Amino acid sequence: MRNLYLASKNKGKIKEYKKLLSTINCKLLLQPESLEVEENCLTFRDNAIKKASEVSRKTNNFAIADDSGICIEALDGKPGIYSSRYAENDQKRIERVLKELNGLKNRSAFFIANICVCSPNGEVIIESEAKCHGNIIFRPRGKGGFGYDPIFEETSNGLTFAEMNNVMKDSCSHRAKALKKIIPDLLEIFS
Ligand code: IMP
Repeated sequence: MRNLYLASKNKGKIKEYKKLLSTINCKLLLQPESLEVEENCLTFRDNAIKKASEVSRKTNNFAIADDSGICIEALDGKPGIYSSRYAENDQKRIERVLKELNGLKNRSAFFIANICVCSPNGEVIIESEAKCHGNIIFRPRGKGGFGYDPIFEETSNGLTFAEMNNVMKDSCSHRAKALKKIIPDLLEIFS
């Protein structure tokens, strides 16, 4: 069985990947603690490529990375690529977004995920992108998930990501949709 390194230290993401990649015949390993990859590119795609490429080269194994975030229309797409750095923790990031949207009528937003898989020599072999549309609500709702989940109400079912169980979130989330698109390619590589 071949190794596949997940280029992330985000525990919320790791849980989601384990479920979503359960059909792939690979050993999913976390990015080594000692390895730091700076997310300093200007697009989600370039950040995903940088993470997967550096982790694959440094571990000499296949690596998968995603760069994801939330883009809010009335804030000109912010927090966008700065989603994980918009404030010092999830609660403060949520408070900042709600404050910035205070008094604004347009609450439209989308989550986006760019995924990249690299071969052990750092070459990009698979890419994928997907979005999930919704609205930013006025007060957090729900206890599950991570990040901006409690304030993001998904369009088709009216629940926040934090109110959904894993199965529901996986049926509509940006990351799950981007990952599902590349499952056939992953099955081929890891067959
Ligand atoms: P990344 O690790 O650089 O991709 O950071 C993504 C950041 O975007 C996370 O730290 C969260 O703040 C936010 N984010 C991405 N996906 C989700 C999600 O599914 N739910 C909630 N927040 C998310």
